[in-house]
Amino acid sequence: MTIESHLASLEALQTAALSELGTAEDDTAIENWRITYLGRKGRLTEVLRGLASLEPEARRTVGATSNQLKTLLEEQLAERLALLHDASMQGLASDQVDISLPGRPVDMGRYHPLTIVVREISQIFSSMGFQIAEGPEVEWDYFNFERMNIPKGHPARDQWDTLWVDSMQGQDGEYPMLLRTHTSPMQARVMDSTEPPVRVLVPGKCWRYEATDATHESQLFQVEGLVVDKGISFANLRHTLYKFARQMFGEDRKVRFRCDYFPFVEPGADMAVDCFICQGADLECKVCRGEGWIEIMGAGMVHPNVLRMSGYDPEVYSGFAFGMGAERIAMVKYGIDDIRLFYANDIRFLRQFP
Ligand code: PHE
Repeated sequence: MTIESHLASLEALQTAALSELGTAEDDTAIENWRITYLGRKGRLTEVLRGLASLEPEARRTVGATSNQLKTLLEEQLAERLALLHDASMQGLASDQVDISLPGRPVDMGRYHPLTIVVREISQIFSSMGFQIAEGPEVEWDYFNFERMNIPKGHPARDQWDTLWVDSMQGQDGEYPMLLRTHTSPMQARVMDSTEPPVRVLVPGKCWRYEATDATHESQLFQVEGLVVDKGISFANLRHTLYKFARQMFGEDRKVRFRCDYFPFVEPGADMAVDCFICQGADLECKVCRGEGWIEIMGAGMVHPNVLRMSGYDPEVYSGFAFGMGAERIAMVKYGIDDIRLFYANDIRFLRQFP
């Protein structure tokens, strides 16, 4: 090929390319055009490949012309893109879409009030040196009851209507399983696997076969606490829980400690805070029923039998435990008057928590 024929084919290339570009109406057409003319195996490259057959002098001339053409085509490409983009914006405008409007806000997810409360409880106890642990929600009868000093036939079992799961058949008999009724079985599990001192907090879900009302649900969230060491006393228990209540509810809320019975503690207690709805003035109050107090947790000194079953010598070690209902805590904290709201999935309720 001669220098003249090279220059002529470059010119033909330019004419074809520019007229084709003028008819490309969308991004795909433009991209196809780019590949055809400017691509790695495109037509311009093809011409450049032919340069090898030319004399050095001619090669320089044709090379320079091809580079100019390349620049020209690239510029035209950019211009065409800009033009089409503008046109499509105008199209939008004439379609009556106000493109200057801010976007529609996407609804952000947020934390469930129980998550917020459980995290806050965990933070308060972490700051007192508690470690956080979790345990199985489907539990053996053995840990849920036996290891909590509630042997078969114990009347305390009757107080807990329980949701049983198909039991396992072992060589030496049946191993009943259930949805745990409390997080207390984790006391035994933790002590089985660690040496004292123990300072642990166990948040988790529990289930009971309940007739539900404003303060009872069949699903509940508990936070269990366990402290075992040499010389742990009831004074330590009271101080820890008072301190927790003050941090959780503020200085003004009144706290009440009373004797209570749980088979796995001795002595046992329950802790209540004054009713945020009626302060005890309303006998019909659906939250406190006119008592003026809302029970938020059970507590007590770990029963010697429970320590012994984990191989801890009760003559050497003592401890306290507590188990609080996260729903009750959230009710007191946020002034929620019906526990069933937590699981009703009503977005208007759930939206109210920061
Ligand atoms: N497990 C008890 C309940 O669910 C609460 C509790 C925990 C009481 C620890 C005493 C000590 O009611």
